Amino acid sequence: VDFPYRFSRLAESMRPSPIRELFAMTQRAGMISFAGGLPDPAIFPVDEFAACGDVLLSQGQSVLQYGATEGWRPLVDILCRRMTELLGQEIGPERLVIATGSQQVMDMAARVLLDPGDTVVAEAPTYPGALHTFRSVGARFALVPCDAEGMRVDLLPEVIERARSETGRLPKLVYSIVSFSNPSGASLSPSRRVELVEVARRYGVPVLEDDPYRELRYAGEAAQPAFRSASGEGVIFASSFSKILAPGVRVAWAVAEPSLIRRMVIAKQGMDLCTPVVTQALVAEYCRRGHLDRHLEKIRDHYAAKAAAMAAALRRELPLGAAKWSDPEGGFFFWLQLPGRKAREVFDAAIEEGVAFLPGETCYPGPSETVGEGVDGRAFARLCFTFASSDDIVEGCRRMSRVLTRGSAFGVRGPGGAGES
Ligand SMILES: Cc1ncc(COP(=O)(O)O)c(C=O)c1O
Repeated sequence: VDFPYRFSRLAESMRPSPIRELFAMTQRAGMISFAGGLPDPAIFPVDEFAACGDVLLSQGQSVLQYGATEGWRPLVDILCRRMTELLGQEIGPERLVIATGSQQVMDMAARVLLDPGDTVVAEAPTYPGALHTFRSVGARFALVPCDAEGMRVDLLPEVIERARSETGRLPKLVYSIVSFSNPSGASLSPSRRVELVEVARRYGVPVLEDDPYRELRYAGEAAQPAFRSASGEGVIFASSFSKILAPGVRVAWAVAEPSLIRRMVIAKQGMDLCTPVVTQALVAEYCRRGHLDRHLEKIRDHYAAKAAAMAAALRRELPLGAAKWSDPEGGFFFWLQLPGRKAREVFDAAIEEGVAFLPGETCYPGPSETVGEGVDGRAFARLCFTFASSDDIVEGCRRMSRVLTRGSAFGVRGPGGAGES
């Protein structure tokens, strides 16, 4: 007999992450998965990383000890230098905290900024893991629709005002994935970046700038300025080694003003005391040896080829008119609109056919947790192009095509037209 636990109200209201649930289905033998947002394990720098294990021999006594909650100092210093360069402002160690994944940055930000019932403004669609974290502290969501340039920042004041009139309080946070978004692949244009920060500042609402894909550009212009470089205060910048090195290291970081970093550190003290020092030291050594920048060059080429392979396969294989999308210029994802279809039903058929993707509805909060107008994501599908091998990308798109051809009005294959870039 189960012990009669009396769960907290928050625990009672928590639902399992849909991604984790769907994941189980994507693990079947022979399945080609475009579902998870995973890097390609074939490109992990296993040998270089293993060689960095020398730090265990040279500095084992401190590396194997508990570390500072703020982070392993050599890594903090490396990241401060990189962030000073990126943001064009001096970033000292008091402005930076290392986290156990950028997922933990969200958790720290949520714990120090949000009370149950508070509203987070997010673009729709957004990263399901962020919804999960904000939800777990009892937050609700006010949604700003997106177009090909990311969040419709022109609608942001209206969304903030509406949330204020419906809840009696201003939203507490704006959350945005600014470069090659998960899931939409879109990047905020430079003018929208400036406008977003101006609007948020006018209302006194801080911004969480989640930017793990910034360095993964395969086409188009150079990287856009970060929000934080435009404004400084009131912006929390977050990034991670997960996509540019390996998610297994669970090392990420946040930059913000010292008073906020201090609060986040106090919150983190109660979460995990410190991010594992062993992996921080390995990552620091990896960067110190100059591997990271070389690796970035390599993965950009590698993923550019995969993005091109998926773009070509989708165009060639999918029935004409069955899907619409813009080819991403970076990041990990294609975001397909499947006109007239419910992606969740397509997903069930796709699993039967041996190919998996992420149904778009997981990237939108449900009606009961939405303040103001909802956004319907049922017709969308997220396809990750980085994880599958090039052969599997082609075969997976063929399987998608069979699913989309079956029981639909579309019978004619490409070429061309299917992908309206
Ligand atoms: C936009 C975004 N933020 C945060 C994360 C979490 O990454 P991490 O592995 O650093 O916790 C992900 C992972 O997919 C992501 O896509």
